[in-house]
Amino acid sequence: MSAERFCDTYPQVDIALYAELILVNAVVREASVTDHVNSVTIPKGTLVTISIVAFNFDETVWGPDADTFNPDRWTDHVSKANHLTFLQGPRGCIGRLFAETEMKILLVALIQRLRFDEVVRGKYIERHVAITTRPKNGMFLKISAI
Ligand code: HEM
Repeated sequence: MSAERFCDTYPQVDIALYAELILVNAVVREASVTDHVNSVTIPKGTLVTISIVAFNFDETVWGPDADTFNPDRWTDHVSKANHLTFLQGPRGCIGRLFAETEMKILLVALIQRLRFDEVVRGKYIERHVAITTRPKNGMFLKISAI
C-alpha cells in the first residue's frame, strides 16, 4: 500500500475499529422530550447510552467482515461518514480534522523510519473496553529502524 493511500485510510480504520489509538466507547444523552424509537418509548429524562463500539462493528452496517482489518472499506465517502468514532452531526467532535491530521502525520513519520512486526504473528488482540479502548494485555511489537 502506498504511503498516500495508507495515510488516507489507515487512521480511519485504526480509530474506528482497532483502537490502537484512542476510541471513545460510548456517549450518553438525556432525552429532552418523551419520544418513540421504533416500538420503544423513551420517557423524558431517560439517559440513553449510544454505543460507538457496537455501531462501528455492526454487521448490518459493515457486512460480515465488520471485525476484519480492511482499509478498502474506507475508500468511498459514504463509509467515511458512516461511523460514530467522532460522533456525527452538530455535536460531533470539533477536533476531528485536527486529530485525523495529527495521526496521519505521526503515522507517516513512524512508517517512514521504523518497521513494526508482531512478536507473535496473528495473535488475537483482545480489547480492554473502558472509557477509551486499548489492548487488554498490551501489544508486543518488534520495532526496527528501516
Ligand atoms: C482520536 C481523537 C478523538 C476522538 C476519538 C474524539 C471523539 C469525540 C467524541 C465521540 C465526541 C462526542 C462526545 C459527546 O458528545 O458525548 C467528541 C466531542 C468533542 N471533541 Fe473530540 N475526539 C478526539 C479528539 C479531539 C481533539 C484533538 C479535540 C480538540 C482539539 C477535541 C475536541 C472535542 C470537543 C470540544 C468536543 C465537544 C463538542 C460538542 O459537544 O459540541 N476532540 N470527541
